[in-house]
Amino acid sequence: MTFPLHRPRRLRRDASMRRLVRETELQKNDLVLPLFVRAGQKGYRKEIGSMPGVFQLSPDEIEREVVGAREDGVTSFILFGLPTAKDATGSEAWSPDGAVQQGLRVARKALPDATLIADVCLCEYTDHGHCGILEDRGTHVTVKNDATLPLLAKAAVSLAQAGADVIAPSDMMDGRVLAIRKALDEAGLHDHPILSYAVKYASGFYGPFRDAAESAPKKGDRATYQMDPANAREALREAQLDVDEGADMIMVKPALAYLDIIRRVKETTLVPLAAYNVSGEYSMIKAAAQKGWIDEQRVMLEVLTGIKRAGADIILTYFARDAAKRLG
Ligand code: PBG
Repeated sequence: MTFPLHRPRRLRRDASMRRLVRETELQKNDLVLPLFVRAGQKGYRKEIGSMPGVFQLSPDEIEREVVGAREDGVTSFILFGLPTAKDATGSEAWSPDGAVQQGLRVARKALPDATLIADVCLCEYTDHGHCGILEDRGTHVTVKNDATLPLLAKAAVSLAQAGADVIAPSDMMDGRVLAIRKALDEAGLHDHPILSYAVKYASGFYGPFRDAAESAPKKGDRATYQMDPANAREALREAQLDVDEGADMIMVKPALAYLDIIRRVKETTLVPLAAYNVSGEYSMIKAAAQKGWIDEQRVMLEVLTGIKRAGADIILTYFARDAAKRLG
């Protein structure tokens, strides 16, 4: 017999009781705020049309942003760059004076004890918008895997030398974690951890990010390197391969349509697990809230709690400042 012996509502009686039995506690320490650095003129701050509240920022504006975020309780950041010029190989990605390199130096000076993560990819820096060296096969375009690895490794070393604490490759080339680990070690940067976007799906939810980072592919799509949304066992394989290559932390991306993947990767690996609450997931909430259809603050915390409950230890989210403020 269950009822009336068992009454789950007894433990929901009041707020204090609910807090006592709460299983998942979102913490501001779990949150990472993405930032878009634009090299060039000073005082540049441009809001992204499809991402209200998110800006492209010049390095000096990055200082203002990280100091404000710190006051809200955010201490970890991931930086993306908008270069002054793009070319076929994305060479500004490893320029000592590249957008992210400048942003890192400014952020480091403003917040010496923050954790600065550098995204490593070439799509923001190539004139074709793909994540490595382009190969046109006539029927479709793809990216040359092995020829791209040394370029990613160069970018990783340059970013670590500019002050990144953590290197986060998001390109989805096979073998890039090992190539980056070797290059970092050879440069004497053996204490810099790698957070690998190990499980990254070819997703429609990246749309607004591509506005923000101006990184949409000019031709074709990323389906030959990013994962098929229908696959779950492949995610476990990708995660394991990156751990074997030396990844210190791994990521699942996007988060909301892949909560089952977050759970399964958590159960089959031992490294800290991050999840990226991506641009489209952010923009959907913003848009619905602007229409008055949902309560933005409530839905934001519900979504972030869901990602944590699924198994994420770390959450990258454009809501980081707002959520940290709410969490106190
Ligand atoms: C770069 C990269 C992307 C995102 C993070 N790193 C875009 C892409 O793969 O096209 C997306 C993040 C977001 O949507 O918030 N490869």
